[in-house]
Amino acid sequence: MKVCFMGLGYIGLPTAIIAAKHGIQVIGVDINPKVVEMTNQGKLHIVEPGMQELLQEVVSSGQLKASTTPEISDAYFMVVPTPFKGNHEPDISYVEAATRAIIPLLKEGDLYVIESTSPVGTTDKMAKLIFDLRPELTDKIYIAYCPERVLPGNVIYELVCNDRVIGGINEVSTDKAIAFYSQFVQGTLHRTNCKTAEMCKLTENSSRDVQIAFANELSLICDKAGINVWELIELANKHPRVNILQPGCGVGGHCIAVDPYFITSDFPMESKIIATAREMNNYKAFWCAEKVQNTMLKFELEHHRKPTIAMMGLAFKPDIDDLREAPAKYITTKVMQSCNNADILVVEPNVQEHNVFKLTDYKEAYIKADIVVFLVAHSVFKSLPYDDKKIILDFCGIYKK
Ligand SMILES: NC(=O)c1ccc[n+]([C@@H]2O[C@H](COP(=O)([O-])OP(=O)(O)OC[C@H]3O[C@@H](n4cnc5c(N)ncnc54)[C@H](O)[C@@H]3O)[C@@H](O)[C@H]2O)c1
Repeated sequence: MKVCFMGLGYIGLPTAIIAAKHGIQVIGVDINPKVVEMTNQGKLHIVEPGMQELLQEVVSSGQLKASTTPEISDAYFMVVPTPFKGNHEPDISYVEAATRAIIPLLKEGDLYVIESTSPVGTTDKMAKLIFDLRPELTDKIYIAYCPERVLPGNVIYELVCNDRVIGGINEVSTDKAIAFYSQFVQGTLHRTNCKTAEMCKLTENSSRDVQIAFANELSLICDKAGINVWELIELANKHPRVNILQPGCGVGGHCIAVDPYFITSDFPMESKIIATAREMNNYKAFWCAEKVQNTMLKFELEHHRKPTIAMMGLAFKPDIDDLREAPAKYITTKVMQSCNNADILVVEPNVQEHNVFKLTDYKEAYIKADIVVFLVAHSVFKSLPYDDKKIILDFCGIYKK
């Protein structure tokens, strides 16, 4: 069987590699020639533990080949970006472009699968596009949606072991897609229809967003009431049926901070909680920035000089180097814009250098700072001794007690 992966990014490339490792002949397509060149040289262009060795193996054995143009195959997988536009509306133009590129190659009996996180109805839309342009293939090819739920950093394990949800435009398409994935997925393959599968992915990430919003809302209430939110949540979670997540300085990344908008933009009247959760998590970052700015002003009034401030962390979650949609980055930018010449030390121990922020070593910044703002709970920050002579704004629970 020969298959074609459209998009060789964080998800498409590892999936193509794992499929190739399981004996499937894979052609990996990307519009970025650099990605194609590196892949063909066996050089991984993303960061993922253990993946480099696997890539070299499947490239040198000839199981995986990369190209900027698709080739005739038996199955096609769309793993391209699905960002949102300025008004928070989903942008499925990449899925459509990748689909248009393979339409001339389709033949009877082929399988077409969308893996990209997509708004409800995308698979039906792409099926219509395919059959409008190739009406002779109606009911003769198989079309399905199969979202990805791997955690970057643990992709080799999760690609194989996670359960997956697979929904075809009809039963026989679901069967075909399940038959494909069962070649390398050991987790259970749960069958449904394509709309439910699309909504399932959006639901998973919206559910996380809503739960984090609840914790963030509690953190605002506790700040006003003079209650330690970390202790409160720990105590509430002693209830056998309560499981509150931890608050932070907002929600970031390219999934949880993005996917709920795919629901709110299509179902604005119905998605009240999902929309409010998004607002709450965005507001939390704004609130943190205001808190830092007010603390700076207070310091200046009391000490008759500008403070030195350490902004600890830029990533969207602990112990990673990914800054996409990161609230810590937003807060740091906002504080710097209003800093009035205060000395701001920006810290991100997982990044070597940044084109906007001049980075400072975390220990040095902590020692120099009058105000220390913990934005991300990176493990290394937890080893810093608590210094009660400093003003500490702990938005992520470094010193929970
Ligand atoms: N990264 C994750 O953790 C994750 C997890 C689950 C789901 N997803 C979803 O998977 C999809 C892909 O995400 P990603 O993180 O791999 O994105 P990515 O940006 O890392 O990679 C996408 C790749 O597609 C390429 N591309 C764009 N248009 C193309 C086209 N027409 N033909 C061929 N290649 C094209 C880009 O050059 C890029 O290399 C998105 O919908 C995302 O929401 C991502």
